[in-house]
Amino acid sequence: MKYNVLLLGSGGREHALAWKIAASPRLGNFYALPGNPGINSLAVGIDGSVSDFDLIRRTIVEKKIDMVVCGPEDPLVGGLKDFLLSAPDIRKDLLFVGPGRDGARLEGSKDFAKEFMARHGIPTAAYRSFTAEQRDDASAFLRSLRPPYVVKADGLAAGKGVIISQSLEEAEASLDNIFGGQFGSAGSKVVIEEYLDGVEVSFFVLTDGHGYLLLPEAKDYKRVGDGDKGPNTGGMGSVSPVPFCTSDFVNKVRERIISPTVHGLESEGMDYRGFIFFGLMNCGGDPYVIEYNVRMGDPETESVMLRVDSDLLAHMAAAAEGDLSGERIDVSDRSAVTCIVVSGGYPGKYGKGYPISGLESLDGLTVFNAGTSLKDGRLVTSGGRVLAVSALGDGLKDARDRVYSRIDNVVFEGAVHRKDIAQDMIDWQIEKR
Ligand code: AMP
Ligand code: GLY
Repeated sequence: MKYNVLLLGSGGREHALAWKIAASPRLGNFYALPGNPGINSLAVGIDGSVSDFDLIRRTIVEKKIDMVVCGPEDPLVGGLKDFLLSAPDIRKDLLFVGPGRDGARLEGSKDFAKEFMARHGIPTAAYRSFTAEQRDDASAFLRSLRPPYVVKADGLAAGKGVIISQSLEEAEASLDNIFGGQFGSAGSKVVIEEYLDGVEVSFFVLTDGHGYLLLPEAKDYKRVGDGDKGPNTGGMGSVSPVPFCTSDFVNKVRERIISPTVHGLESEGMDYRGFIFFGLMNCGGDPYVIEYNVRMGDPETESVMLRVDSDLLAHMAAAAEGDLSGERIDVSDRSAVTCIVVSGGYPGKYGKGYPISGLESLDGLTVFNAGTSLKDGRLVTSGGRVLAVSALGDGLKDARDRVYSRIDNVVFEGAVHRKDIAQDMIDWQIEKR
């Protein structure tokens, strides 16, 4: 059977998903809401916002959609799946890739995620959570810890809700700021936790509620500058595979983290069908969960999708149908590197609407649109992260060389990119040899 698919979202992650979906022999008609110029070269774009649930409902009915794939977390945390499946004009067998409101709490509430991990014995940093009324207890708990201090707003804060401070004074100030409304209602509760000292890595699974497919792992580069300097961003690049993820480490992740998470969701009756993103810290060879996300990562997806050789659309359909037992994922043993070209000034203030040129001279690379739009038929910048330039290679060094040999061909006013994506992982491999 062929599936008419509606993809929700407009970033580089969604373009990478669209690229895999479009390559599937199982694809019927393909729509994206709202999409972007890259996505809309593969799918029919529908103007509107992913938070307009009623528009999504009408689109599903009008376009005879069989499967909805939700890229970003906000609609999931907001209960989009529950809304659609309870709408009288939506067929009950609509396939929806992503959890309902219950499962989405894994990302929507850090307190919920922490309690879930405690219930299922999943390794994570020791923590306590506090409401504004418990401000004094929060201070006392901070004083019982050693620096660095990790203070997090409980709810969704667009990736900015985590404050790591070296001094007690700074940590106290971040408590004041969060309780004072810096992140709105996301900060009505705070989580204070132990600092995990290690190297981060992102794992991804697609689950049908009881089993799962393991996607390639990846690592993202969060800081704006080379050497991981400067402010945090939405992500400046990614690599896959991650050399320290040996089969021994991956087995620990499966046994200690992925299995108890999937079984925990099932035993609590959440019927989670969709992606789970495990943000992990490798502490001396042992994995700990930093955070859960209920979607794929950005810019990890841009590297991960290059390495998935099997039919992602078929996998997603099986997951949404609740039975992945007949699916097998094929992962390429080649390496992928993604470097994001951003607008000058990002993550602070930046200009928009600058014409982009040079994309026709990137032979052999895959370019995903992240923050672009069309103006008078021309591709222009429309966001901080503009393009994800990705390549597969024989090893990380080869993939990295391919990206950097051509990335300067991408031209727009103020274009900036990091020069050191993947270098630390290549150095790590050389050291271990
Ligand atoms: P999150 O928004 O939860 O992904 O956190 C943002 C970043 O803060 C993470 O990617 C980590 O680099 C860092 N972080 C969060 N929690 C901890 C922790 N307990 N120990 C060390 N670093 C952390
Ligand atoms: N790259 C991290 C994230 O998508 O949250």
